[in-house]
Amino acid sequence: MSDTAKLSYNGKEFELPVTEGSENELAIDIAKLRGQSGIITLDPGFKNTGSTKSAITFLDGEKGILRYRGYNIEDLAEKSNFLEVSYLLINGELPNKSQYDNFCQEITMHTLVHEDIKKILGGFPSVAHPMGVLSSLICSLTAFYPNSLDPNNSDKEINLSIVRLMAKLPTFAAWAYKNKVGHPVNYPDNKLDYCSNFLKMMFALPAETYEADPVISKALDQLLILHADHEQNCSTSTVRIVGSSQASIYASISAGVNALWGPLHGGANQSVIEMLEAIKEDGGNTKKWLDKAKDKNDPFRLMGFGHRVYKNFDPRAKIIKKAADDVLDKLGIDDPILEIAKELEEAALGDQYFVDRKLYPNVDFYSGIIYRALGIPTDMFTVMFALGRLPGWIAQWKEMRENNEPIGRPRQIYVGATKRDYKEISKR
Ligand code: ACO
Repeated sequence: MSDTAKLSYNGKEFELPVTEGSENELAIDIAKLRGQSGIITLDPGFKNTGSTKSAITFLDGEKGILRYRGYNIEDLAEKSNFLEVSYLLINGELPNKSQYDNFCQEITMHTLVHEDIKKILGGFPSVAHPMGVLSSLICSLTAFYPNSLDPNNSDKEINLSIVRLMAKLPTFAAWAYKNKVGHPVNYPDNKLDYCSNFLKMMFALPAETYEADPVISKALDQLLILHADHEQNCSTSTVRIVGSSQASIYASISAGVNALWGPLHGGANQSVIEMLEAIKEDGGNTKKWLDKAKDKNDPFRLMGFGHRVYKNFDPRAKIIKKAADDVLDKLGIDDPILEIAKELEEAALGDQYFVDRKLYPNVDFYSGIIYRALGIPTDMFTVMFALGRLPGWIAQWKEMRENNEPIGRPRQIYVGATKRDYKEISKR
């Protein structure tokens, strides 16, 4: 196979190197094209542009493959746990027993946040969206740990910032929720595992004992694993690009949370429940809504169905469906919204329109259902996604730094007015 590609323009020919990845993915390297020819490439939304070489996550949407550091998502979801997967993503290898114990111990030790953060939290009105609160609290860590601002920090200091992020995000997330409902915050319980501690901080009420159900903790842990990384998506690219200016890791992750917030990215799971609620309000006729989704004159789409990258199946959806069934069985929940979800899923999977277009339920369809069954309010769904995505963002930020990547700075094709003379306001 040739290791160069040729581009001809206006009678001139330019030779461009071709790069191959470890899974045989090919890319034409255009980094020097402008210098050679004065031409740039144009690709709005970066749909066909590789921004980096990365050794973290491999996905093949046609074959339904997702691997973290070479390990299949199915194996990790079944046999591993979120903290072990986080270690793998961040450090590149699975930990041995003592590395794993140290990692868990360090994260457990840093779950508490500075008391003054409660004052910042208290400044938010209860209507504040928890994603805005979460990103603000993460960014506030730059004030509590000003050392983190130094771009020349040692690996040891960087590691401390990483541990703090992993440890404190569940506390921030639970506190953002408590602020919303007007309840006193719960402090972390370091005797508990990562997910049970989070659930307790979310749901324990004063003067009541709370113990997280192990089935629920396990389902949540699995959900976090499934969301832990998805290569160069909108929020991950944001984290890398903000970090490329040598802004602190806290500022970079806070920016990632903001990028995740939108309904076209992390907000899709919220849209699923909103759609199910609308169907219920309308009398629960799933066939009517399926027909609406198929009607080309109707803009309605079945939320939680289809995926830009996965065209045969989303490997995460397969795993999460089982977790959703386990949680619903365990909790014995009688919720008309969940009944509608099941009916819709069955009807769509058996419908030729959806079969022909390879439209299957995606990870957001089931994650929304699980979060609802766990009693997590709809506007906290994207916060849950952020909790899961954190180790991926950290790993990508670290890789960007270790590779010494240049500051992210795309170019543009200018299409505005050409040079014109300024006229004073009285003459316009
Ligand atoms: N409901 C009904 N029809 C659909 C749906 C849907 N959810 N998704 C795609 N289609 C149809 C399209 O109308 C189109 O039909 P046509 O060929 O007759 O014109 C065909 O399927 C292909 O659709 P595209 O829009 O070309 O597919 P694309 O890959 O661009 O879109 C997307 C993928 C955006 C996810 C889309 O399926 C969708 O809007 N789904 C609902 C929103 C959703 O669940 N988003 C979350 C994605 S998962 C994630 O981001 C973590």
